[in-house]
Amino acid sequence: MIQMSNPAELRSAIKEERFKAAREGKELKVGLVPTMGYLHEGHASLLRKAREENDLVVLSIFVNPIQFGPNEDLDRYPRDLERDQALAKREGVDIIFAPGTQDMYPTPTKTKVQVAELTTGLCGAARPGHFDGVTTVVSKLLHLASPDRAYFGLKDAQQLAVLSQMVRDLNMDVELVPCPIVREADGLALSSRNVYLTAEQREEALVLSRSLFEARKWYDSGESITPREIRRRMHDLIAAQPLAEIDYIEIVSFPSLEPLAENTAIQELTQPILLALAVKFGGTRLIDNILLHSNEVPVHV
Ligand code: PAF
Repeated sequence: MIQMSNPAELRSAIKEERFKAAREGKELKVGLVPTMGYLHEGHASLLRKAREENDLVVLSIFVNPIQFGPNEDLDRYPRDLERDQALAKREGVDIIFAPGTQDMYPTPTKTKVQVAELTTGLCGAARPGHFDGVTTVVSKLLHLASPDRAYFGLKDAQQLAVLSQMVRDLNMDVELVPCPIVREADGLALSSRNVYLTAEQREEALVLSRSLFEARKWYDSGESITPREIRRRMHDLIAAQPLAEIDYIEIVSFPSLEPLAENTAIQELTQPILLALAVKFGGTRLIDNILLHSNEVPVHV
């Protein structure tokens, strides 16, 4: 495993590997796993999939400042490069790309990649500019690593929808591979931000997955239920937790993220449906979701 921070070095290392393979008459498949570090089992599952499907696995670790708003947690975002290196090694990563801010943005940026419409609702409403930061940095990473595949967790379902749109619109030659949400045994979706939670907040935060799993049960029960009614019931469950401050509970089509007809029974709709929520506990904003009408299976650790 090698590590580098210089974008030009990453580009030439991957080119070199491709040339080497070509000289032996092989085509090298490159898998990229973009992260902000402080890796957990969710990231490990992306790395494992990338390892299975590619010859060369590149892990990027970069806390991207331009996707954080002015009052967000950029300064205190958890970092532990040594621990990340150990996890990467265990998962068979070939290259860690861990640039600093100066490496990625050496001069003030005058260019941004912006996806319209899909970025205005859900998390985009509370975090203006966030997805522009994500699409800009991910397109830079895709240009630098030129991977055949890039791996993203479905926990950030809106991010995946936005990035898929970007890849389609800009004719990028990469396959985005969605990977299932990984949860703790008690249902909490893994997130680097979970470390911010106090024991009491963490206990209350279990209501997020519980309310989503309840919604799946209402949907599966055969009872004719509308998006409006699902949202109302989920709202009641979550609002019963004293520390929970609901940002949104939304039910939209996936990946187009369009609102569903509020009064149509959800069972009558045939496209994949995303139930997504964002809830704050103290200063920590957690997101979670489930997909209906899809084969997504929740993964537990
Ligand atoms: O999902 C993340 O960790 C980040 O948004 C990403 C995709 C690495 C871009 O900074």
